[in-house]
Amino acid sequence: MNNEKEIRQEEELESSKKKMLAKDETLYQEMQETNVNISKNDAADDLHEHYPPSDDELKNVTTEDKVIKDIRSKCKFKQEYVDNNIILSVNHLKQYFFFGSGPGRYKLKAVHDVSFQVKEGECFGLVGESGCGKTTTGRSIIRLYNITSGSIYYKGHRIGAGSRWNEKEIKYTKIRFNEEKKKLAEALKNNEISKEEHDKKLKEAKEYCDNVCKVQKAKIKQIKHDNNHVDPKLMREIQMIFQDPVDSLDPRMTVETIISEGLQIQGFRNKADNHRRVVEALERVGLIEDYANRYPHEFSGGQRQRIGIARALVMNPKFLICDEPISALDVSIRAQIINLLNDLKDEYKLSMLFIAHDLSVVKYFCDRIAVMYFGEIVELATSDELFKHPLHPYTKSLLSAIPKPNPLTEKNRIRITYNPQKEHDYSVEKPKFVEILPGHFILANSVEVEKYKKEIVELDKKADSEQ
Ligand SMILES: Nc1ncnc2c1ncn2[C@@H]1O[C@H](COP(=O)(O)OP(=O)(O)O)[C@@H](O)[C@H]1O
Ligand SMILES: [Mg+2]
Repeated sequence: MNNEKEIRQEEELESSKKKMLAKDETLYQEMQETNVNISKNDAADDLHEHYPPSDDELKNVTTEDKVIKDIRSKCKFKQEYVDNNIILSVNHLKQYFFFGSGPGRYKLKAVHDVSFQVKEGECFGLVGESGCGKTTTGRSIIRLYNITSGSIYYKGHRIGAGSRWNEKEIKYTKIRFNEEKKKLAEALKNNEISKEEHDKKLKEAKEYCDNVCKVQKAKIKQIKHDNNHVDPKLMREIQMIFQDPVDSLDPRMTVETIISEGLQIQGFRNKADNHRRVVEALERVGLIEDYANRYPHEFSGGQRQRIGIARALVMNPKFLICDEPISALDVSIRAQIINLLNDLKDEYKLSMLFIAHDLSVVKYFCDRIAVMYFGEIVELATSDELFKHPLHPYTKSLLSAIPKPNPLTEKNRIRITYNPQKEHDYSVEKPKFVEILPGHFILANSVEVEKYKKEIVELDKKADSEQ
């Protein structure tokens, strides 16, 4: 009886393992397809980190193991980002969360494939519904998570990278090599190829497999090295204002301790000096010195958010991530906080990543906007362009959610709901991130691109006739 149970359990385990492997394989293929697609369009693509080794790389390995030698004591640096004034570059960011263990283990793809770049002094908006992975993106940038795959560059320095893709590449190259080996042995057995031919082909396959593994292992090593050697001074320049002003402040700490905590961690130990900085920051966000000794619960929501901003300011940031800074606040004080952020942006010459869940907030505040849906960016354009030519059905749905100030038009406003299954048919062709107008990117396949192009013409015509 017991034996039977054990056998059944083993069988179940075996079949679930097989299923997982099959699922992994399709995922891997999908990843490869989407990545290759994106690489054709994304100018700043990071071929060397996320794709199978190029022929050149493989050649290098076979001649002198150059790639392996290339792991320097230095972190990866990209001069082209500095030359093009790109302060932050997020390339194919993936952030998965894993739950459980064994065959029952599953993953949640919080961020699936996100790439964008923020220029020096720019305010970049990231918009999407709750749960689409905006906060996770922000938290990955400030290194609160070890990212699963992809890379993040700040001022040309790689500050974060994930190695999952490289590990998969090694795994599947080995699987493919074993398959090839079996096939060759079979062919030899059936006298389809000669022994010499068999040996030659096997040697070639083995060499290829070894080289791919070598290159990928070297990359993993470099990724691990970079992740462990990020310059804390560089990271200090990136600060984040959190979504919830209540939860993000420790109720047992005074305002002064909260604001100066970052300074302490960074090694600023002079108490008088720290106090001066705290007071300066408090005053800058419209609070007074007396508040330094109070506790967070004594303040209103708007004031707490100001404390959150002061905590970021005290570190003298260059890049500010604002994670829905006003969505937890009363409508009456939202404008105050937005104005404060706007002033600080000019005063500190900040570059910003502004996260929001509706388009009305970012319309006037951001230079460029990326619309995110389920862990992916579906449309990216300048603010004006996005409002002039909203193309993706999800963008349209977000736009239809903005209340209109005119009661007559507000009465007739129709809310568009977005249902991806109804809107897209990707069974034949998968979507790519295409530049449909200069600087305006959209996730679409070629049939949709044609449709969107017609829509642009019509939108232009309509705008002309209204003028
Ligand atoms: N630390 C975590 N562990 C597990 N799941 C998480 C974690 N953080 C976020 N998630 C999940 O990732 C998804 C995206 O979350 P989040 O980035 O917070 O969305 P948003 O900020 O766009 O509302 C959600 O489904 C959320 O439940
Ligand atoms: Mg969030």
